[in-house]
Amino acid sequence: MSLDEALRRFPDAGIYVTLDTQYRYEAFHSIVSEFGINETRILNYEPVELRVSCEYLDNYIAIINQILQNGKLARGLSFCCAGHGVPENHPLIEFSGTPKETFEKFLQLRSDLLFKLNSGLPSKCDGCVKKIRRYQPLRHIFTKVILGSLCVCNFDCFYCYRHDLAFSPKDLSDELDVSAFLQLAKNYNGDNTENLWVYCAYGEITAHPPAYREKIYQEIRDFDVQFVTNASIYDEFIHQHLKTRKGSSINVSLDCGTHETFKRIKGRAMFPKVLENLRKYNEGRIGQIWLKYIFLPGVNDNENDVAGFVAIYRELNVDAAIISSDTHTMWYEDYNTKKMFTAVNLFKQLCDKNNVDVVNWSDVTIGRILAEQSFEWEAL
Ligand SMILES: C[S@@+](CC[C@H](N)C(=O)[O-])C[C@H]1O[C@@H](n2cnc3c(N)ncnc32)[C@H](O)[C@@H]1O
Ligand code: SF4
Ligand code: SF4
Repeated sequence: MSLDEALRRFPDAGIYVTLDTQYRYEAFHSIVSEFGINETRILNYEPVELRVSCEYLDNYIAIINQILQNGKLARGLSFCCAGHGVPENHPLIEFSGTPKETFEKFLQLRSDLLFKLNSGLPSKCDGCVKKIRRYQPLRHIFTKVILGSLCVCNFDCFYCYRHDLAFSPKDLSDELDVSAFLQLAKNYNGDNTENLWVYCAYGEITAHPPAYREKIYQEIRDFDVQFVTNASIYDEFIHQHLKTRKGSSINVSLDCGTHETFKRIKGRAMFPKVLENLRKYNEGRIGQIWLKYIFLPGVNDNENDVAGFVAIYRELNVDAAIISSDTHTMWYEDYNTKKMFTAVNLFKQLCDKNNVDVVNWSDVTIGRILAEQSFEWEAL
């Protein structure tokens, strides 16, 4: 039934918008402004505004222990742990003074950036492909905390932004009060704290020195966590989270479906080990497994890898397939080939056939490929 018809048949009924956040705010605006319905009738209504921002600026706080900033290593609070078109100079407040002081400067940076983005003034977000103009809630809360430090990893993925860090891993013993920042973000959210979840996106958390890793694990153990891991090292803490928390998950960038391509991308011949660990993580879980496929022109845009990936996906009964482009060194032009379009198309078709949920995590390049060929899904 269309909204028009529903409103005619049930003129006094309350309205509950079940759409995903991305569309929900748009719907609030259109129900109130275009259909002239009083906002008190929308049961889950929140005041919204049309603004230029990005998902990170809107909802993330990234606690970063080592990232390249203006050619030097920096540590601090940021919105986006990886630059999207601004790899070396993205907005960041370096740690100084108490965690509270750093946090307040960070909130100020957020307001300044939003003001500049919406007034057309130059800002550190200039050149970033993540900016978007859309309806968003007026009231700000943090929904995701990113924890990261790119310095330690046992892999050598050729696309990884770690390659910008032409340095050897630094001593990680620097004090970093993750729990103080988690508490500050929770307090800031007030009664919306249950929305906060942690995105554990270290270089490779399972390869970090045990003392550092344990400290981080202590601090995040009571949160729903998404562990972004290469899954080459089985980790009991991660498995325990998957077994006990529905809201926790692992996000593994597999990027291929064959042993050869895995080695070519990751620089390690560990495809069988990763599959073995994924099967272990699959045992007894109530949390989710997400597998990711970063499309890489000339590397994994072929049938063997795409079909191999979907077969693994099916075997593990995975919850979501994240598709992405290489957001660091490649642009749409690099993807605008028949081979790539065919591979993305095949991927989508196989996933549709097997009831696999394909998620494009606001990747602009992949979004454009999907949009440009969406009319062909039926025909092929
Ligand atoms: C830096 S990694 C760290 C976590 C873990 N080691 C892993 O590989 O999943 C965090 C995420 O960034 C993604 N990533 C790294 N370089 C990328 C790039 N050039 N383009 C898109 N995603 C990238 C990885 O796929 C991974 O999902
Ligand atoms: S640099 Fe890009 S991703 Fe980071 S806050 Fe600005 S617009 Fe968002
Ligand atoms: S495993 Fe993760 S952190 Fe390590 S090189 Fe690959 S993408 Fe980068």
